[in-house]
Amino acid sequence: MTRIDDLPIRDELRGKSPYGAPQLDVPVRLNTNENPYPLPEPLVRRIAERVTEAARHLNRYPDRDAVELRTELAAYLTRTAGHPVTTGQVWAANGSNEVIQQLLQTFGGPGRTALGFEPSYSMHALISRGTGTGWISGPRNDDFTIDVAAARAAIAEHRPDVVFVCSPNNPTGSAVGADTVLALYEAAQAARAGSGGALVVVDEAYVEFSHRPSLLPLIEGRPNLVLSRTMSKAFGAAGLRLGYLAADPAVVDAVQLVRLPYHLSAVTQATALAALEHTDTLLSYVEQLKGERDRLVTELRASGCQVVDSDANFVQFGLFDDAHAAWQAILDHGVLVRDNGVPGWLRVTAGTPAENDAFLDAVRAVLKERSLKENKR
Ligand SMILES: Cc1ncc(COP(=O)(O)O)c(C=O)c1O
Repeated sequence: MTRIDDLPIRDELRGKSPYGAPQLDVPVRLNTNENPYPLPEPLVRRIAERVTEAARHLNRYPDRDAVELRTELAAYLTRTAGHPVTTGQVWAANGSNEVIQQLLQTFGGPGRTALGFEPSYSMHALISRGTGTGWISGPRNDDFTIDVAAARAAIAEHRPDVVFVCSPNNPTGSAVGADTVLALYEAAQAARAGSGGALVVVDEAYVEFSHRPSLLPLIEGRPNLVLSRTMSKAFGAAGLRLGYLAADPAVVDAVQLVRLPYHLSAVTQATALAALEHTDTLLSYVEQLKGERDRLVTELRASGCQVVDSDANFVQFGLFDDAHAAWQAILDHGVLVRDNGVPGWLRVTAGTPAENDAFLDAVRAVLKERSLKENKR
């Protein structure tokens, strides 16, 4: 049987594994940071109407620049982040993964490097690799916060073309302060002062769940700062595949150099526009999820687990001698959580109250079992 490595693939892809959170058929799935609430029926009907209208014109290519959608996304950002954003400052693509890919195709690529502070969202490294961009793993403190002095030193040493800051950070959960982002931005510009600076990408996929405000206002006057966002989490629309960025209009112009023509289908644009009409209802689910997230933190701590403070819709908990064995034991109780490979730690997504109860019961049961009694409290 032919294996991938028998094919004439690029050398840097040899021996690598694709991204793949397990999609197992278990009663409670809390492993991919999705929103557990299905879209409300009035929105489902509105999507059907909008898509029906779009279907009448599917013989034509979609609006290549997605102007109506970008205008509505700009209005959403202006309203929720308390800072005016124009259509020209917003760009949309098929999930924020595609936004990140377009940014790396434009600002990274062969001979260039990107740096992120790990553990963090693994796709930053994987998309870097996929675009031929060298990956540099930057440091974090033991409590998973970013050590600004060490981060500055790593930036000065490696002079990356792109720096990723994930806030709130996946999988650890905590948000990053504006002062830290500004320090990293300045360090990145200084390190590449002779070559026009470096792009700093703040991945705010989970920001709607945060205790801290969005870092959006920081893009003002900083053309090399980009914020990436998604409708997969707070909007409960992971299946839609809609991500977007906010930045200086020059960044939006720059990604046009690499985006595929008509990359965002008319059906996607119509569906996203319908979802944006129902923003208030969808954001009310976010409030419920924040309450459930806080309950998970409190109850996990009460059970003896260590828990990282969370600004997201998920919680990193431990500390297990063997996190993978703990993952399997929780799965044996019918609950799928995520082992991100952070030694000792697992991650659980906040689900519905019933799902969270099932998860907490499973953890309590597992903590009583022999195989996990070395759990260090
Ligand atoms: C930090 C972070 N950024 C981006 C994404 C990708 O989101 P999307 O569904 O918009 O591609 C995820 C998804 O889990 C994520 O955790």
